[in-house]
Amino acid sequence: MKKLIAANWKMFKTWSEGMQTARELLVATRQDLPADREVLLIPSFTLLKGVGEVFSGVENYYLGAQNFYPEEQGAYTGEISPVQLKDLGCSFALAGHSERRHVLGETDEFVGQKVRFGLEKGLNIILCIGEKIEERKKGQVEEVLHRQLAKGLAGVEKDIEPQRLSIAYEPVWAIGTGEVAGPKEIVHAHTFIRNELAEYFQFYKDIRILYGGSVKPDNASQILGLDNVDGVLVGGASLKAESFSQIVLAE
Ligand code: 13P
Repeated sequence: MKKLIAANWKMFKTWSEGMQTARELLVATRQDLPADREVLLIPSFTLLKGVGEVFSGVENYYLGAQNFYPEEQGAYTGEISPVQLKDLGCSFALAGHSERRHVLGETDEFVGQKVRFGLEKGLNIILCIGEKIEERKKGQVEEVLHRQLAKGLAGVEKDIEPQRLSIAYEPVWAIGTGEVAGPKEIVHAHTFIRNELAEYFQFYKDIRILYGGSVKPDNASQILGLDNVDGVLVGGASLKAESFSQIVLAE
Protein backbone atom coordinates (compact mmCIF):
# COMPACT_ATOMS: atom_id res chain seq x y z
CA MET A 1 0.00 0.00 0.00
CA LYS A 2 1.40 3.40 -0.97
CA LYS A 3 1.50 6.07 1.73
CA LEU A 4 -0.63 9.11 0.99
CA ILE A 5 0.85 12.52 1.84
CA ALA A 6 -1.98 15.05 1.64
CA ALA A 7 -1.89 18.86 1.79
CA ASN A 8 -5.04 20.53 3.08
CA TRP A 9 -4.58 24.22 2.27
CA LYS A 10 -7.86 25.14 3.99
CA MET A 11 -8.99 28.73 3.21
CA PHE A 12 -5.52 30.01 2.37
CA LYS A 13 -3.84 31.33 -0.77
CA THR A 14 -4.76 33.62 -3.62
CA TRP A 15 -4.45 32.37 -7.19
CA SER A 16 -0.87 33.54 -7.67
CA GLU A 17 0.25 32.22 -4.27
CA GLY A 18 -1.34 28.85 -4.97
CA MET A 19 0.23 28.55 -8.41
CA GLN A 20 3.65 29.44 -7.07
CA THR A 21 3.49 26.92 -4.22
CA ALA A 22 2.21 24.17 -6.52
CA ARG A 23 5.02 24.73 -9.05
CA GLU A 24 7.69 24.87 -6.32
CA LEU A 25 6.35 21.69 -4.77
CA LEU A 26 6.48 19.80 -8.04
CA VAL A 27 10.08 20.87 -8.66
CA ALA A 28 11.11 20.01 -5.09
CA THR A 29 9.55 16.54 -4.95
CA ARG A 30 8.96 15.02 -8.38
CA GLN A 31 12.45 13.57 -8.99
CA ASP A 32 12.88 12.03 -5.57
CA LEU A 33 9.34 10.91 -4.77
CA PRO A 34 9.73 7.46 -3.18
CA ALA A 35 8.04 4.67 -5.14
CA ASP A 36 5.78 3.87 -2.21
CA ARG A 37 4.27 7.36 -1.94
CA GLU A 38 1.43 9.40 -3.41
CA VAL A 39 0.85 13.13 -3.01
CA LEU A 40 -2.57 14.73 -2.77
CA LEU A 41 -3.17 18.48 -3.07
CA ILE A 42 -6.38 19.78 -1.52
CA PRO A 43 -6.57 23.53 -2.21
CA SER A 44 -9.58 25.87 -2.11
CA PHE A 45 -12.16 25.47 -4.87
CA THR A 46 -10.83 28.60 -6.57
CA LEU A 47 -7.41 26.98 -7.04
CA LEU A 48 -8.47 23.51 -8.17
CA LYS A 49 -8.20 24.14 -11.86
CA GLY A 50 -4.81 25.84 -11.68
CA VAL A 51 -3.22 23.38 -9.25
CA GLY A 52 -4.66 20.54 -11.33
CA GLU A 53 -2.93 21.94 -14.41
CA VAL A 54 0.43 22.13 -12.64
CA PHE A 55 0.24 18.42 -11.73
CA SER A 56 -1.59 17.30 -14.84
CA GLY A 57 -0.28 14.00 -16.19
CA VAL A 58 2.28 13.66 -13.36
CA GLU A 59 2.09 10.17 -11.95
CA ASN A 60 1.38 9.74 -8.22
CA TYR A 61 0.10 13.32 -7.73
CA TYR A 62 -3.63 13.81 -7.22
CA LEU A 63 -6.11 16.64 -6.76
CA GLY A 64 -8.75 16.71 -4.04
CA ALA A 65 -11.53 18.95 -2.73
CA GLN A 66 -12.04 20.05 0.86
CA ASN A 67 -15.80 19.74 0.72
CA PHE A 68 -18.85 19.15 -1.50
CA TYR A 69 -22.61 19.00 -1.28
CA PRO A 70 -24.32 15.61 -1.60
CA GLU A 71 -26.43 16.36 -4.67
CA GLU A 72 -25.58 16.09 -8.35
CA GLN A 73 -26.92 19.55 -9.23
CA GLY A 74 -29.72 21.89 -8.27
CA ALA A 75 -30.75 25.01 -6.40
CA TYR A 76 -28.07 24.91 -3.67
CA THR A 77 -26.58 28.38 -3.80
CA GLY A 78 -22.92 28.45 -2.85
CA GLU A 79 -22.44 24.70 -2.96
CA ILE A 80 -20.35 22.47 -5.25
CA SER A 81 -21.27 18.99 -6.43
CA PRO A 82 -19.03 15.93 -6.87
CA VAL A 83 -19.82 16.00 -10.59
CA GLN A 84 -18.43 19.54 -10.87
CA LEU A 85 -15.35 18.52 -8.90
CA LYS A 86 -14.64 15.52 -11.08
CA ASP A 87 -15.03 17.76 -14.10
CA LEU A 88 -12.14 19.87 -12.75
CA GLY A 89 -9.91 16.83 -12.34
CA CYS A 90 -10.53 16.04 -8.66
CA SER A 91 -10.29 12.39 -7.78
CA PHE A 92 -10.46 12.80 -3.99
CA ALA A 93 -12.52 14.76 -1.48
CA LEU A 94 -12.56 15.18 2.28
CA ALA A 95 -15.72 14.53 4.25
CA GLY A 96 -16.24 15.45 7.87
CA HIS A 97 -13.16 17.56 8.49
CA SER A 98 -13.24 18.75 12.10
CA GLU A 99 -13.58 22.37 11.03
CA ARG A 100 -16.71 21.48 9.05
CA ARG A 101 -18.09 19.55 12.00
CA HIS A 102 -17.22 21.97 14.77
CA VAL A 103 -17.09 25.39 13.10
CA LEU A 104 -19.72 24.89 10.39
CA GLY A 105 -22.04 22.57 12.29
CA GLU A 106 -22.04 19.44 10.12
CA THR A 107 -23.61 16.46 11.86
CA ASP A 108 -22.39 12.86 11.82
CA GLU A 109 -25.44 11.96 9.70
CA PHE A 110 -24.76 14.66 7.12
CA VAL A 111 -21.13 13.55 6.88
CA GLY A 112 -22.36 10.00 6.23
CA GLN A 113 -24.65 11.25 3.50
CA LYS A 114 -21.68 12.94 1.84
CA VAL A 115 -19.48 9.85 2.11
CA ARG A 116 -22.10 7.67 0.40
CA PHE A 117 -22.94 10.23 -2.27
CA GLY A 118 -19.34 11.14 -3.05
CA LEU A 119 -18.38 7.48 -3.44
CA GLU A 120 -21.41 6.83 -5.60
CA LYS A 121 -20.38 9.69 -7.89
CA GLY A 122 -16.87 8.34 -8.26
CA LEU A 123 -14.81 10.43 -5.83
CA ASN A 124 -12.34 8.72 -3.50
CA ILE A 125 -13.38 9.84 -0.05
CA ILE A 126 -11.25 10.64 2.99
CA LEU A 127 -13.51 10.47 6.03
CA CYS A 128 -12.06 12.63 8.81
CA ILE A 129 -12.75 11.70 12.42
CA GLY A 130 -11.31 12.64 15.79
CA GLU A 131 -12.13 13.52 19.36
CA LYS A 132 -12.17 16.89 21.10
CA ILE A 133 -9.95 17.48 24.12
CA GLU A 134 -12.82 17.27 26.60
CA GLU A 135 -13.85 13.93 25.10
CA ARG A 136 -10.30 12.61 25.48
CA LYS A 137 -10.18 13.81 29.10
CA LYS A 138 -13.41 11.96 29.80
CA GLY A 139 -11.98 8.74 28.32
CA GLN A 140 -14.37 8.83 25.37
CA VAL A 141 -11.89 8.52 22.48
CA GLU A 142 -13.06 5.07 21.34
CA GLU A 143 -16.70 5.98 21.80
CA VAL A 144 -16.34 9.09 19.60
CA LEU A 145 -14.37 7.28 16.89
CA HIS A 146 -16.86 4.40 16.93
CA ARG A 147 -19.80 6.77 16.53
CA GLN A 148 -18.20 8.88 13.79
CA LEU A 149 -17.26 5.73 11.86
CA ALA A 150 -20.69 4.15 12.30
CA LYS A 151 -22.53 7.23 11.06
CA GLY A 152 -19.89 8.15 8.48
CA LEU A 153 -19.70 4.70 6.89
CA ALA A 154 -23.35 3.67 7.08
CA GLY A 155 -24.49 2.25 3.77
CA VAL A 156 -21.04 2.00 2.17
CA GLU A 157 -20.60 -1.29 0.30
CA LYS A 158 -18.78 -4.05 2.15
CA ASP A 159 -16.58 -4.92 -0.82
CA ILE A 160 -15.53 -1.36 -1.67
CA GLU A 161 -12.12 -1.15 -3.38
CA PRO A 162 -9.78 -0.02 -0.63
CA GLN A 163 -8.25 2.87 -2.59
CA ARG A 164 -11.71 4.50 -2.82
CA LEU A 165 -11.90 5.15 0.90
CA SER A 166 -9.46 6.42 3.52
CA ILE A 167 -9.92 7.43 7.13
CA ALA A 168 -8.07 10.42 8.57
CA TYR A 169 -7.64 10.41 12.33
CA GLU A 170 -7.33 14.05 13.32
CA PRO A 171 -7.67 14.65 17.05
CA VAL A 172 -9.27 18.10 17.23
CA TRP A 173 -6.91 19.26 20.00
CA ALA A 174 -3.89 18.59 17.75
CA ILE A 175 -5.12 20.57 14.74
CA GLY A 176 -3.30 23.85 14.23
CA THR A 177 -2.12 23.88 17.83
CA GLY A 178 1.44 22.62 17.43
CA GLU A 179 0.47 19.90 19.88
CA VAL A 180 1.00 16.64 18.03
CA ALA A 181 -0.50 13.44 19.40
CA GLY A 182 2.17 11.14 20.84
CA PRO A 183 3.13 7.85 19.16
CA LYS A 184 1.20 5.84 21.75
CA GLU A 185 -1.97 7.88 21.24
CA ILE A 186 -1.69 7.65 17.45
CA VAL A 187 -1.05 3.90 17.40
CA HIS A 188 -3.89 3.29 19.84
CA ALA A 189 -6.38 5.27 17.76
CA HIS A 190 -5.23 3.84 14.43
CA THR A 191 -5.33 0.27 15.70
CA PHE A 192 -8.81 0.87 17.08
CA ILE A 193 -9.90 2.27 13.69
CA ARG A 194 -8.38 -0.70 11.82
CA ASN A 195 -10.28 -3.12 14.05
CA GLU A 196 -13.48 -1.18 13.51
CA LEU A 197 -12.96 -1.22 9.74
CA ALA A 198 -12.83 -5.02 9.93
CA GLU A 199 -16.51 -4.91 10.92
CA TYR A 200 -17.45 -3.00 7.76
CA PHE A 201 -15.18 -3.99 4.90
CA GLN A 202 -13.82 -7.06 3.21
CA PHE A 203 -10.52 -5.35 2.31
CA TYR A 204 -10.18 -3.44 5.57
CA LYS A 205 -6.45 -4.14 5.84
CA ASP A 206 -5.81 -2.09 2.68
CA ILE A 207 -7.89 0.95 3.58
CA ARG A 208 -5.50 3.79 4.35
CA ILE A 209 -5.62 5.41 7.76
CA LEU A 210 -3.98 8.85 7.75
CA TYR A 211 -2.91 10.89 10.76
CA GLY A 212 -3.48 14.65 10.87
CA GLY A 213 -2.74 17.30 13.49
CA SER A 214 0.45 19.40 13.65
CA VAL A 215 2.43 17.17 11.30
CA LYS A 216 5.70 18.99 10.58
CA PRO A 217 8.99 18.17 8.83
CA ASP A 218 10.58 17.23 12.15
CA ASN A 219 7.95 14.69 13.24
CA ALA A 220 6.80 13.31 9.86
CA SER A 221 9.28 10.40 9.64
CA GLN A 222 8.41 9.15 13.08
CA ILE A 223 4.66 9.39 12.49
CA LEU A 224 4.87 7.75 9.04
CA GLY A 225 6.80 4.86 10.59
CA LEU A 226 4.12 3.99 13.16
CA ASP A 227 1.92 0.89 12.89
CA ASN A 228 -1.26 1.43 10.91
CA VAL A 229 -0.24 4.92 9.77
CA ASP A 230 -0.66 4.89 6.00
CA GLY A 231 -0.15 8.58 5.36
CA VAL A 232 -0.59 12.07 6.77
CA LEU A 233 -3.03 14.93 6.27
CA VAL A 234 -1.13 18.17 6.72
CA GLY A 235 -2.54 21.66 7.29
CA GLY A 236 -0.19 24.48 8.29
CA ALA A 237 3.05 22.83 7.17
CA SER A 238 1.59 22.12 3.72
CA LEU A 239 1.27 25.81 2.88
CA LYS A 240 4.94 26.25 2.05
CA ALA A 241 6.58 24.09 -0.61
CA GLU A 242 9.74 23.95 1.47
CA SER A 243 8.14 22.38 4.55
CA PHE A 244 5.63 20.20 2.69
CA SER A 245 8.28 18.79 0.37
CA GLN A 246 10.30 17.72 3.42
CA ILE A 247 7.25 15.84 4.68
CA VAL A 248 6.59 14.30 1.24
CA LEU A 249 10.19 13.06 1.07
CA ALA A 250 10.57 12.18 4.77
CA GLU A 251 12.39 8.86 5.17
P1 13P B 1 -2.48 21.29 11.01
O1 13P B 1 -1.45 20.44 10.28
O2 13P B 1 -2.33 22.75 10.73
O3 13P B 1 -2.54 20.94 12.46
O4 13P B 1 -3.91 20.90 10.38
C1 13P B 1 -4.29 19.58 10.30
C2 13P B 1 -5.51 19.46 9.48
O5 13P B 1 -6.58 19.92 9.86
C3 13P B 1 -5.40 18.80 8.17
O6 13P B 1 -6.66 18.53 7.64
